[in-house]
Order: sequence, then structure tokens, then C-alpha cells
Amino acid sequence: MEELNDACVVITGASRGLGRALALALSRRGARTVLVARDAHGLHETVRRVSAEGPEPIAIVGSIADLKDVHRIRETVLATVAPTALINNASQFALGSLAELAPEVVAGVLETGVVGTTLMAQAFLPALRAADSGLLLNIGARVASPGYPLDVSGTSLPYQTAKRYLTVLAAALRQEAPEVDVATLYLPAIGSAVDLDDPAESLAQAYGEQRVLPLTAVTSAVGDRLAGIGMRWEEWVLSA
Ligand SMILES: NC(=O)c1ccc[n+]([C@@H]2O[C@H](COP(=O)([O-])OP(=O)(O)OC[C@H]3O[C@@H](n4cnc5c(N)ncnc54)[C@H](OP(=O)(O)O)[C@@H]3O)[C@@H](O)[C@H]2O)c1
Repeated sequence: MEELNDACVVITGASRGLGRALALALSRRGARTVLVARDAHGLHETVRRVSAEGPEPIAIVGSIADLKDVHRIRETVLATVAPTALINNASQFALGSLAELAPEVVAGVLETGVVGTTLMAQAFLPALRAADSGLLLNIGARVASPGYPLDVSGTSLPYQTAKRYLTVLAAALRQEAPEVDVATLYLPAIGSAVDLDDPAESLAQAYGEQRVLPLTAVTSAVGDRLAGIGMRWEEWVLSA
């Protein structure tokens, strides 16, 4: 499969989990990838694995919640490649009430999920507008999808806020830049603690009876969306 040969995809949160799985899966289909995360060690492991199977990625260590880092990420990327897609995958999860959560955790979830995601969209919107059919894909959560009843008990106010904000962000970006294809994928629990290449049994071992969506289901949905295969969805709520 080499249908993504013309794609250059910026993936945030690529040091582990779904971000790493996306980097691997999209590069296997021929995409050039730009990988962003704070943990240099995890990021370099992703680079090592991507390089073994697909086009050499560009890796940038930095926080999307830090204005200076976002500026550096943007400058580094645009000096080298012309991105055709941005996947806003980086996120921080927090479970608990405001009484239980440390203020630093509350700030981290909101700074990454709201401020960081917006800064990355702002930084790459001009490049996506200039691309032939630029795609901005947000990774949302099914429990914070449009119409899903608000329940902070299974997550938290900051996580719900950050994830529900993605719907607002997508609608606003479509108004501001109608030439950019803006899509949001709302996910159920995903098998992100288990590697993309692990056999199905390790998914069952790690998650037991809990219903989780294997990472491969998510990566193929994203790969097909990038390749223009199947329905051109704007919002898609996946189920496990
Ligand atoms: N896991 C689930 O069951 C589930 C369910 C619904 C939706 N989702 C969504 O799916 C996406 C992927 O989930 P996951 O389970 O793979 O998450 P994860 O394992 O927690 O990984 C999150 C990634 O985001 C990065 N990150 C966090 N803060 C960052 C920052 N300020 N700047 C740059 N990178 C940052 C982390 O890397 P560093 O720490 O190295 O920066 C890491 O690579 C997220 O958007 C999540 O909300 C997940």
C-alpha cells in the first residue's frame, strides 16, 4: 500500500500510544511523518521504528502547550517539508473531581488539550490551506462527542472540557478556512497501552473483559480518511 506517498502528516503525541501507532501505520502506507512530543526517549523509539519501515520521519521534541515550542516546531517543519495534514492527537487524561485533582494536572490537561491544540491548528493552518487538499484531524473521545450526555464522573471536568472543545474548534476552523478539510474522530476506549504490532491476545490480557477498540481499527480509519478512501466524514464516532 503506497497510497499516501504524497502525504506529509504532522502527528502530535507521537512518543507512545495511538500517536506512535499512527506514525507507523501511515508511514507504512507511504506518508512522510513529522513527529512531535515532549519525551525524547519515546519519540526516538518511534523514529527508530518508523525509519525501519517507511520514509524517514522528522522528530521534534517539544510541548504543544508552550508558545515558544510551537513556534520552533512550525519553523522547523516549514523549513523542510510542506505538510498536507495535521493530526491533533496529543492529549492528557485526568480522572477525578476538582477536589481530587492537583491544580497542576488541571492546568496540564487544559493547556495541552485546549491551548496546545489551538496553537498547533493556528501554526499549520496556512500550510494546510496551501496544500492541495489539506486535512486537519482532531482525535476526540466518544464520551465527549456531540450529543453524548455530559458526565464528568467517569473522566473529569478538564478532560471533558478539552475534548468537547474539539467540536467547537472544528466548526470554527471550517468557517475560517473552508478550503481545509477538518475532521474529528471520537474514540471509545482504545488499546493504546498495547503496541500496534502486539497480537490480539495481549490486548485481551491487558484489558480483560473491558471493551476496547484495537489500535489497528483507528489507524486504518485515519489512513483511509487521508487516502480519500470511503466516505468523506467530518465527524465519526467509533465504537468498540
Ligand atoms: N486511550 C483511550 O482509551 C482513549 C479514549 C478516547 C480518546 N482517546 C484519545 O486518543 C488520543 C491518543 O490517546 P493515547 O491513549 O494514545 O494517549 P497517551 O498514551 O496518553 O499519549 C498521549 C501523547 O500525547 C503526548 N503529549 C501530552 N502532552 C503533550 C504536550 N503538551 N505536547 C506534546 N505532546 C504531548 C504524550 O507524549 P509526551 O508525554 O512525550 O509529551 C503522548 O505521546 C488522545 O487524544 C486521547 O484523548 C484515547
